[in-house]
Amino acid sequence: MVEGFSFNNPGKLIFGEGSVGSLPDLTDPDSALLVCGQSFLSNQKSRLLTEKIKFIKKVSGEPSPDLVDSITNDVKGKIKSVIAIGGGSVLDTGKAVAAMCCTEGSVEKYLEGVGTALPPGETLPLVAVPTTAGTGSEATKNAVISRRGPGGYKKSLRHDNYIPAIAVIDPDLYLSCPAPLMASCGMDAFSQLLESYISTKANIYTDTLALKGLNLFIENFMNLFYSEEKDTDAMGAIAFAAYLSGITLANAGLGTVHGIAGPIGGLYPVPHGTACGTLLPAVMRKTVEELEKQEEERSPIALEKMDRLGQLIGKGNRYLLLETLDQWLETLNIPGLSSFQIREEDIPVIAESSGNKNNPYAFSQKQIEEILKERL
Ligand SMILES: [Fe+2]
Repeated sequence: MVEGFSFNNPGKLIFGEGSVGSLPDLTDPDSALLVCGQSFLSNQKSRLLTEKIKFIKKVSGEPSPDLVDSITNDVKGKIKSVIAIGGGSVLDTGKAVAAMCCTEGSVEKYLEGVGTALPPGETLPLVAVPTTAGTGSEATKNAVISRRGPGGYKKSLRHDNYIPAIAVIDPDLYLSCPAPLMASCGMDAFSQLLESYISTKANIYTDTLALKGLNLFIENFMNLFYSEEKDTDAMGAIAFAAYLSGITLANAGLGTVHGIAGPIGGLYPVPHGTACGTLLPAVMRKTVEELEKQEEERSPIALEKMDRLGQLIGKGNRYLLLETLDQWLETLNIPGLSSFQIREEDIPVIAESSGNKNNPYAFSQKQIEEILKERL
């Protein structure tokens, strides 16, 4: 029986090598704001676009409320659309600015768990062009905004209407991404697919998409690092899988990996993909251990799903999945948390603000502390 569910569709998708060439026809360059990272501006292909566009903002790092407010103040009333080209942080900056151009006050007022107001949902149309295969922001309804340091946070500006109107995915744009960045972004996208696949909020629609995305990762991810030449086929597959991860996370939610990675990113300068990558194997192993304790009374669906992934990897089961995650962590050289000056005495504070989101097993704060200790 198919159980009831609701599903937010993503916007229009233009996918394929060279598809970035369609950008000049998608918006009016006189009234569009281009938000981009340095890597795009140094790309030859950018000239076609930057020569025509009147408003350009170069950004770097995760967006803070101050950055979003400052760009919004500069362009409000002058632009009718936003094009964001870059990694997840650049896309989130563009998404927040597009929304705040139609909204009163500072973005901080509308952040979940920080502000007191609900986002009204009006936004300028956003064209999202990712250059890393990671957050899936090109398909999600939220922009992650961070304030770093003591009392820092990493929170979402979220509304169904904030899903980008158009996503342009051109695998050529991803090829200049350095391997360590590709590794951490990829681990983020894989975490998002796996967490939404086994989420307590998953449904038949998100399962179908997540399973396809996970399979694309299983078949292609390592090829990005092992092959001598740039593997454009593998890049296209991972770029599409990352897009799918955005759709599934927006509709099925995430789990404990992201429930811990969020607070870590607010308190310490740990890149989001690195935090997810380093936590993923430990969280999944502990989730399996805890769900297996319940297996005598019922058969947790999450374990069946993990067995299915083990089958896809190599006719194995959930344990092959766990082994594969350990191998990826080692092969990709994803660092532990102590590389970012996180010490054992910092763990209780991180665990206190962590959560389980929609993980199939809800860990206690003590258990989260143990996971963190393991990943120092
Ligand atoms: Fe993520």
